[in-house]
Amino acid sequence: MKPTFYITTPIYYPSGKLHIGNSYTTVLCDTINRYKQLRGFDTRYLTGMDEHGQKIETVSKEQNKSPQDHVDFLASETKKLWDLLDIKYDDFIRTTEPRHEQVVEQIFEQLLKQDDIYLGHYEGYYCMSDEAFFTETQLDEGNLCPDCGRKTELVKEESYFLRLTKYQDRLLKFIDDNPDFIRPVTRKNEVVAFIKQGLIDLSVSRTSFTWGVKVKSNPKHVVYVWIDALSNYISALGYKSDNTDLYEKYWNGDEVVHVVGKDILRFHAIYWPIMLMALDIPLNFKLYAHGWYVMKDGKMSKSKGNVVYPDPLIEKYGLDPLRYYLLKELPYSGDGVFTPENFIARINYDLANDFGNLVNRTISMTNKYFDGELHKPSQNYFEFDKILQDKIKDTVSVYTTEMDNLAVSKAIQNLWTLVSRTNKYIDETCPWILAKDDSKKEELNSVLYHLVESLRHIGILLKPILLDASKELFTQLNIPTDLQTWESLEFGSIENLKVIDKPTPIFPRLDKEEEEEYIKNMISGKKEEVIEEVFASIEDFDKLEFVVGEILECKKHPNADKLLVSKINTKDKVRQVVSGIAGSYTPEEMIGKKVIVVKNLKPVELRGVLSEGMILAGKRRKNYEVIEVSSLLPGDKVS
Ligand code: MSP
Repeated sequence: MKPTFYITTPIYYPSGKLHIGNSYTTVLCDTINRYKQLRGFDTRYLTGMDEHGQKIETVSKEQNKSPQDHVDFLASETKKLWDLLDIKYDDFIRTTEPRHEQVVEQIFEQLLKQDDIYLGHYEGYYCMSDEAFFTETQLDEGNLCPDCGRKTELVKEESYFLRLTKYQDRLLKFIDDNPDFIRPVTRKNEVVAFIKQGLIDLSVSRTSFTWGVKVKSNPKHVVYVWIDALSNYISALGYKSDNTDLYEKYWNGDEVVHVVGKDILRFHAIYWPIMLMALDIPLNFKLYAHGWYVMKDGKMSKSKGNVVYPDPLIEKYGLDPLRYYLLKELPYSGDGVFTPENFIARINYDLANDFGNLVNRTISMTNKYFDGELHKPSQNYFEFDKILQDKIKDTVSVYTTEMDNLAVSKAIQNLWTLVSRTNKYIDETCPWILAKDDSKKEELNSVLYHLVESLRHIGILLKPILLDASKELFTQLNIPTDLQTWESLEFGSIENLKVIDKPTPIFPRLDKEEEEEYIKNMISGKKEEVIEEVFASIEDFDKLEFVVGEILECKKHPNADKLLVSKINTKDKVRQVVSGIAGSYTPEEMIGKKVIVVKNLKPVELRGVLSEGMILAGKRRKNYEVIEVSSLLPGDKVS
C-alpha cells in the first residue's frame, strides 16, 4: 500500500483579492504535494475559506449584502485564482458548510462536557482584523494590536474559556520530545518561549455578534472564529461524521503537514494541539511556518498601494515564471522582498539563460552533429563525465532531503547548481572542436548524451515546480513517459533517442527596462483594489446579438502570430472575424465548425484586418476552446 500524505494550507479570510503573499502558501503546498505524488505517496491536499467572524459580518453590512452572499462571491473568486495558478487541491472546505459547522458544534459540546471548556467572563482587547484577543499589557501604545497595529476594542462579555493552562506542560513536553514538530527551529523557539511565559485560558466564544457557529447548548454565544477555523483540518476529512474513512486514512496515516505563515503560528502551535489533546486525537501533524513576502517599503498593503497580485503577472509572463519566483525567493526561514528588478532578473538569468539556453544548445547541437539521434555511450571518455554524473546523483539526493524538509527554495537553488554545472560541462568538453574530428564521433555522442541525461534529471525534479516547462522540455527532448518518472532517476536510463528537429525557446528573454517599468506601473496602478461583484442587467445582455455561424474559410493573420482570420456564414451575410485563438487552433481545424458569433459588435480593424464580430470561446489558462453547436444552423439565434 502507498504511504499517505495529507497537506493543508491555512483557510483564507474572504477579505478581498488575494495577493502573491497569500498565494505563496497555496503554491508551496501544491509543489510539495506534487513532489509527494512523484514519490508515489497517496496524497490529499486541502485548502479552503475561513468565512465566519465579526469582521465578515461588519464588512458585508457595509456592502449591503448578506454575509453568505459576500463569502460565496469571494470563495468563487479564490477558486478562480487557484485554477489560474494550477493548484491541484483535492478538497476546498468552507467553514459555512453544514459538514463543517456540525463538527464544530460537536467539538465544542464535547469539550464543554469534559470541562475543558467552562463559562466565565472576559475582559480584554479584541483585534477584529486578526480575530485575536489581547491583554492590556500585550498591546502597543494607544491600545493598538501588537500584530497588525490596528485599533483594538475593549470587550467585556460573558464568555466560554478553553483550559490552555491544564495542557501547558503536556504541550511543552510534546514539543521537546518531537524536535521537528515545528519548523524552522527559530519558530519553534518562539513558541516555546511564549508558552514558558505562562499561558492563560483562552476566550472561545463571543456574544456581541451572530455570524458564526452557535454554541448548541447556549445559542447566544457563537464559537470563537479560531476554534471554528482550526477544526477544518479534520472536519474536511469527515471527523465525527457518518463517514470517517478519509479521517482514518489521512489523519491517522503516515504524514500530516500544516503549512502556515509566521503570523498564525501561535494558533497552530498552541491552540490547535491543545484542542487535539483535549479531544484525545493523535497529535501527529508537523507544522511549517514560513516568512512573508514584503516590499522594499515594508508590508504589502492596499493603503500603501504596493500590493502585487498574481493574475496580471501570470497573464503577462505565464504561470511558470511566477511559481518559480515565489518558490525560490522566499528563504526557508525569514522574509523575502519582492522587487520588479529581481522578478525580471530571475526570468532572464535563471530561466531564459541558464536553463533555456542549455536546452536550446543541447537540441541544436544534437541536430547539427547527429541529425537529432543519440545512443548510450559504452564508456566514459573525459574526467568531466564522472564529475557530471556524480553531480547529478548528488543533486537528486540533496533535492530529496530539502523537499522532504519542506525547504523548496533550497531544493531549487541546489537544482540550479546542476544547471550551471551542466553548462560548464559544455565549455569543458568543447563539442564544436570534437565535431571537427571524424574519429571523435563517439566522444561527441557521449558529450551530448550527458547533456540530455542531465536535462532529463532536471526535468523530473522540476515537475512539481515548473508545470508547463517540464512538459515542454520532455517534448522537445522526446523523452518517453516511463523515463519521466522518479524511478527512472538514474544516469544511463536512455538507450537511444531522437530529439525534435528545432528547439523553441521555453522562456524567451525579456527586455529588462521595459518589463521592470511595466511591473512598477502595474503595482502602483492598483492603489484602491477592492473586488466587488459586477452585475449586468438583462438590458445589458439584450444589447448583444448572438447567432450561430459556420466557418467557411480560415487563415493566419498576416501581421500577428496569435490571430486567426475567419470567414463566417451567419445567414445574413458572410462576415470576417479576427480571433486570438491561433495558439489553440490551426486554420484548417477551424474550417467547418459551427460556432457562436456576437454579430452586432462594432466593426474594428485588428492589426490592419477588419473584424466584424467575435467568436465565443472558453479559456483555460493559455488554451481556448471555441463553443460549438451541432444541430443548429447558421443564423439561428442564441440567447
Ligand atoms: N483565516 C486565517 C487562517 C486560519 S487557518 C485555520 C488567516 N487567514 S489570512 O487570509 O489572513 O491569511 C492566510 C495566510 O496568508 C496566512 O498563512 C498568512 O501568513 C499568509 N500571508 C498573508 N500575507 C502574506 C505575505 N505577504 N507573505 C506570505 N504569506 C502571507 O490568517
